[in-house]
Amino acid sequence: MEKVLTKTPEETEALGRRLGKNCHGGEVFLLVGELGAGKTYLTKGLARGLGIKSVITSPTFNIMKIYEGRRLNLCHVDAYRLQSSKDLLALGVREYLDSPTTVTVIEWADLVEDLNPRRATKIKFKNLIDGREIKIYQKK
Ligand SMILES: Nc1ncnc2c1ncn2[C@@H]1O[C@H](COP(=O)(O)OP(=O)(O)OP(=O)(O)O)[C@@H](O)[C@H]1O
Ligand SMILES: [Mg+2]
Repeated sequence: MEKVLTKTPEETEALGRRLGKNCHGGEVFLLVGELGAGKTYLTKGLARGLGIKSVITSPTFNIMKIYEGRRLNLCHVDAYRLQSSKDLLALGVREYLDSPTTVTVIEWADLVEDLNPRRATKIKFKNLIDGREIKIYQKK
């Protein structure tokens, strides 16, 4: 487990950038934390780290968005409005989870816990008065 304290959204983005740079494809990031915890900021950085130039916006209403990068693609999911993983599977998320050229990031991953990707990195956010505590766990 790695614990990082970030004071600003830019620092959270920089953490995401570092995670993105270390990706080789097939990684799955499960983000857990309350509203405004910084999950989307981290994802924006992660996309930068993957070399994706497009602007990353919160997929709350679309649930899932795919961004194509020169090196790797990003599948960005926001499970906030979902009851279970069924809706996500119906959107074809499995194809992306299993793709060796895609990195998947799921915000509100605790709401679709039964997806159970084979190998994943869980990232837990905690809101502090003056920043965020971000814990990174390798699952399995
Ligand atoms: N250290 C920090 N890291 C990230 N965001 C921070 C930090 N400190 C303050 N903020 C603020 O918290 C908010 C984080 O927004 P963000 O959209 O990334 O959260 P989120 O976890 O994706 O929320 P949601 O659950 O609504 O999707 C922003 O308004 C940002 O300015
Ligand atoms: Mg968000």
